[in-house]
Amino acid sequence: MKEISITSSFNVYDNIEELSEEIQNLMQQAVEIRKKAYAPYSQFRVGAALLLDNGEIVLGSNQENAAYPSGLCAERTAIFYAGSRYPEAKILKMAITAASDTNQTTAPIPPCGSCRQSIAEYEIKQDTPIEIYFMGEIGEVYKSASLKNLLPFMFDKKFL
Ligand code: THU
Repeated sequence: MKEISITSSFNVYDNIEELSEEIQNLMQQAVEIRKKAYAPYSQFRVGAALLLDNGEIVLGSNQENAAYPSGLCAERTAIFYAGSRYPEAKILKMAITAASDTNQTTAPIPPCGSCRQSIAEYEIKQDTPIEIYFMGEIGEVYKSASLKNLLPFMFDKKFL
């Protein structure tokens, strides 16, 4: 028997003002699209903003459904649109913010497992890391320099 260990590291910022203007702008766009989320069942609104290497910004919010599993998270709404509309572009940065209609979300909200797997696909496809910044409504912002920190030991095409 042997043990292996995988380390993930993140940068933690006290608040969004500690980040560059570019990231503040990207996060602000995530906030604006978050407010347009369709979340009548969870009242939990998520916004995602992607900066592409062609300068475009692609936005997405969570879209829920009365048949719950048919809804989609903000991150995948955005990344699938980017993949559809700009298939040749690389996704450089991603800003994510979440807020509940019922209580204040102060903890940084990381993407769910299905979103991590979907983001991984595009990071591998483009062979360039995607910087991921995530926060709640206020407070700390986490930065992951690559999706790999969020999904160690991932399943990908090399196993097929
Ligand atoms: N949600 C996201 O949009 N992104 C995540 O990574 C986590 C969860 C959405 C899905 C659902 O509409 C609501 O948040 C509550 O789970």
